[in-house]
Amino acid sequence: MRRPLIAGNWKMNTTVDEAVILTRDMLPGLKAISNIDRVICPPFISLQRVSEIVKDTAVAVGAQNMYFKEKGAFTGEISPLMLKSLCKYVILGHSERRQFFGETDDIVNEKLKAALATGLLPIFCIGESLQENEAGKTREILARQVTGGLKAISANKDIVVAYEPVWAIGTGKAATGDQAGRTIEFIRGTLASTWNSEIAQSVRILYGGSVTDANIAEFVREPHIDGALVGGASLKASDFIEIVRQTAALKQ
Ligand code: 13P
Repeated sequence: MRRPLIAGNWKMNTTVDEAVILTRDMLPGLKAISNIDRVICPPFISLQRVSEIVKDTAVAVGAQNMYFKEKGAFTGEISPLMLKSLCKYVILGHSERRQFFGETDDIVNEKLKAALATGLLPIFCIGESLQENEAGKTREILARQVTGGLKAISANKDIVVAYEPVWAIGTGKAATGDQAGRTIEFIRGTLASTWNSEIAQSVRILYGGSVTDANIAEFVREPHIDGALVGGASLKASDFIEIVRQTAALKQ
């Protein structure tokens, strides 16, 4: 049995004060739900404050990115070592990083290796663009992202994969549960051929892209979908708690 996981990616939203308020608002509700991993991913500058607030609870904190070097002359970057004391998870290879900041499969691969070597749990994002989807290239792109991202990384069930079709992110046009379920089954098959089927069955794969409290059930009813990576709806405490609550209930 794979333990369900819901992660909130706050993206470039919330000042430190707002992050503190949002964390305090959602913490009681999140704490009250069990048998599910709950992760919140605020901006870097709020990681310290947020991690202090959730300390000694089952709510975990994640970063949204990191560089792959431990330290050095890399102005403006944050290293895995710096994150290690502040958070448990790190989102890597998000499509916004690929699209706006030039991250390639090779860079994502370096980041995945560095995160694992430091003991951070990566949430490894993959997903096809609208153009790739319309050209019927979804599976080809996803297979390339999986094999490229995991190059020279040995089988590891601690990696969490997030399938986020780019056309569904922030658009209000989520995939259907069936569509996402079939694509995630394909991704699991790619993991099986990259590693082995036992590990592929143990790796958690999330869906992301316009997830709300109104559609989460459709996704987590799918046997291959283990939870969600939530953007916009994770910025509203009550919506995020409701997404976690429904997932925990449906994955009993
Ligand atoms: P939205 O839920 O806002 O579509 O964002 C999804 C996402 O990119 C999470 O990482």
